[in-house]
Amino acid sequence: MNSERAECGNLPLLLARLSHDLEQYQRFEFPDALNQIDQWRSALSIALPEEGVGIDQVLVELGRDVIPNGSQIPNPGCTSFITTGATTIGALATLAGSVASPQRIGVHAFNLLEEISLQWLMEMFELPPSMQGIYSSGGSVANLIALGAARQAAFERIGIDPAREGVNRPCRIYTTEASHHTILRAAAVLGMGRASVFNIATDASGCMLPEALQAQIKRDAGLEHLPVAIVANAGTTSCGAIDPLQALGRIAHAHGIWFHVDGAYGLPGILDPEVKPKYEGLQLADSVTVDPHKWLGAPVGIGATFVRDRALLHRAFTQEISDYLEGAFCDEQAKHSLDQPGYDYNDLGVELSAPSRGAVVWALIREIGKQGMAERVCRHNAMARSLAQRAHAHPNLEVVQEPTLSICCFRYVDNKHPDLNALNQRIHRQMVHNGRAMPSTAMVNGVLAIRPCFVGARTTWKHVDELIEEVVSIGQRFSA
Ligand SMILES: Cc1ncc(COP(=O)(O)O)c(C=O)c1O
Repeated sequence: MNSERAECGNLPLLLARLSHDLEQYQRFEFPDALNQIDQWRSALSIALPEEGVGIDQVLVELGRDVIPNGSQIPNPGCTSFITTGATTIGALATLAGSVASPQRIGVHAFNLLEEISLQWLMEMFELPPSMQGIYSSGGSVANLIALGAARQAAFERIGIDPAREGVNRPCRIYTTEASHHTILRAAAVLGMGRASVFNIATDASGCMLPEALQAQIKRDAGLEHLPVAIVANAGTTSCGAIDPLQALGRIAHAHGIWFHVDGAYGLPGILDPEVKPKYEGLQLADSVTVDPHKWLGAPVGIGATFVRDRALLHRAFTQEISDYLEGAFCDEQAKHSLDQPGYDYNDLGVELSAPSRGAVVWALIREIGKQGMAERVCRHNAMARSLAQRAHAHPNLEVVQEPTLSICCFRYVDNKHPDLNALNQRIHRQMVHNGRAMPSTAMVNGVLAIRPCFVGARTTWKHVDELIEEVVSIGQRFSA
């Protein structure tokens, strides 16, 4: 194989071929991947190729064996978990970044868009204007960065630099059971240990009880534990509940404890006037996270953390001076885009090499504006509310948790059935197998609920109708 040919295909021609295959895929007319697993598994499970087949053949195999057997997540009928397919502009901007800005080094348009789009996110979601952001791969790392900042602030206050010296005493991170488990993992990775995460009591919808938090902080005052953070949710993963941010923020400020708001899923909910009052208190946050790869329609791989002081992030995460970078840039006025490193994002989080995420978020917002985003969020929230109303009105449906945002936890009920959790699990599995409406499930206060989460830009009211039809018809069949 000629190596020059292998490395440089004719991009427009090849893209046209790929886009044909992707367009076919997006119709979701293929059978689910598992139906023909033997074919694609045997086609793809070949030994390490000694010689390449060339770009044309790779495209053939992508179009024949890979793309048609891809994930169901981008299917507009899939409302599982909190994930969806990228919007078209999100996918295109990602491609543009991978071609024209494979790194964040240098002074160029993609890097400028990193700053601009972070600023836009802050404005759109009404974060304190003094905040500054950093992108990462998603909510897990975004939370890790936020808690890294919290840890830095808490230990510096007692004269210790935890980034250098490590953590020398037990810590406390106050949150609730409804928090995403990435909080536990972040505590572990940051050396505070999973045991440092203390779950405060919640109300029935999973929201932290401020008086329980207040009482626990008081109880802990005599211990050697260092209070590092209070972690609140602006949209819990299971039900989309929003913690009482105002009350929790005030407690955090009164005790000098870092206040983190995990808005990975739910921060865009502030764009819905019906829910907006629940975000009061967001201004008290020391850090906030949001995932553009959830409700905003970015391809997976984009989370954002906002803090009040990036210098703190620098102290927590700097990779320090490296020999191989010595002399690579100059201090004088730049005459070339590689004269300067550009913004030192690599010192503010846990990644050095990173894709260009700013251009993707910029493109998503530029395409439909704040208004378009608000329309999407309002539409999805309205879908969850409408689903709840229709469940209330149906004799065989029951709302398990009233929706706050775009998640509606409900279930099929039949008084004669001995085990409704098992029945709903069976209904759910059949729904997935039918492939028309594919929500996920969640255990809510001991009740197994069918849990659609509407975040997909391509998901329409038709899909809400289909979801209800599926639950009812399968439920009737299984409980007959
Ligand atoms: C509230 C919340 N935080 C964090 C995460 C983790 O996000 P990611 O999957 O992008 O790492 C999720 C994922 O659903 C979430 O719902």
